[in-house]
Amino acid sequence: MIILAIETSCDDTGVALVKKDEKGNISLLSGALSSQDEIHRKWGGVYPSEAKRAHQKNLVPTLEEALKKADFIDGKGSEMPKKAMSFLEREEELAENLSSFLRKSRPKKIDAVAVTIGPGLEPCLYAGVNFAKALAASLEVPLIPVNHIKAHILSFLFEKREVSFPAVALVASGGHTELVLMKFLKSYNLLGKTRDDAAGECLDKTARVLGLGYPGGPAIAKKAAKLSTPTTRFSISLPRPMLYSKNYDFSFSGLKTAVLYDFLSRKKETQKSEDYITAMAREIEEAVTDVLVFKLKKALTDTNAKTAILGGGVTANKTLQQKAEKLVSSFPGTELIIPSPRLSTDNAEMIGAAATVEKKKTNYVTIVPNANLTVY
Ligand code: KG4
Ligand code: ZN
Repeated sequence: MIILAIETSCDDTGVALVKKDEKGNISLLSGALSSQDEIHRKWGGVYPSEAKRAHQKNLVPTLEEALKKADFIDGKGSEMPKKAMSFLEREEELAENLSSFLRKSRPKKIDAVAVTIGPGLEPCLYAGVNFAKALAASLEVPLIPVNHIKAHILSFLFEKREVSFPAVALVASGGHTELVLMKFLKSYNLLGKTRDDAAGECLDKTARVLGLGYPGGPAIAKKAAKLSTPTTRFSISLPRPMLYSKNYDFSFSGLKTAVLYDFLSRKKETQKSEDYITAMAREIEEAVTDVLVFKLKKALTDTNAKTAILGGGVTANKTLQQKAEKLVSSFPGTELIIPSPRLSTDNAEMIGAAATVEKKKTNYVTIVPNANLTVY
């Protein structure tokens, strides 16, 4: 079975081709991604209507790239059916781009179109879902709705099919920070989540305070890497919010405010000094990763988990990965799964991977911007 997967929940436009063979092995045929970092840099965060416009512009070129990479174009195409066109009534540019692409190129055999239905930014989800509907109607194949958080967790399916349960997944991204207990592959129980900002949001916002640009996570990590250990030079001391709370919840907004207050309390020349910015970046990274790993430890201990799974953009962070490795090595018999950097941040490959274990195939999907773990 060949699945064409689409991801547009935030600021990355992704299309991937994923294959599942008769034995259940999952392989990646191709993946293409259009990043919008350049567009959102000026805002220091994702601006939903600009993000939607960029998806509308990028979806067809990204589709074409993914199909070409997998050698999946089979000669000349045909007119897009009226029904397919009707799904793009409000997406004029997208309708024009897709119909002109399908006129000149016919994709090889695809069995289903998978698409992120949520959680995510509503305008962005609409672009992806309408596009998926039009494409599925053109190819006369069913749709598979996919939950974005579950897809972050299931990106490991490309590398591993057998996982021991129970498993605990830590999903940390720009929009979410959640600990999820899995008793088997398709069972998801939310243990805890952030009560305010997500870990990635905290990194993005504090990076902005320090003038480090967007996305903030990698920018902070790059600066922080200049110091192998935190420095005491500026006596920066950031809180580790909710570290000892009796639940699995997180809170990052106090940490964000603490960074802002420390920054504002400094003299102008200190605020601009490379040494201060580096020291602060190191301390921010330390604080965020301390909290994430501490809560992961609590979840692993309480659930007797056999597997710990990381997912989401923030888990591309090397310091976090090292702390998680150290933690999990102290749990004999527990395995740690870390996705490759390409699969940590948003991508369509993981949507395809999640779709391979999803039974639901339908002719109709709709967006669920606040989808929780019970949705698909
Ligand atoms: O999973 P993702 O690409 O998108 C969402 O679903 O939100 O995560 C994006 C977040 C951003 O906040 C970004 O700053 C952060 O992941 N991020 C990182 C790193 N790479 C991306 N944070 C820390 N270290 C990184 N290396
Ligand atoms: Zn994500």
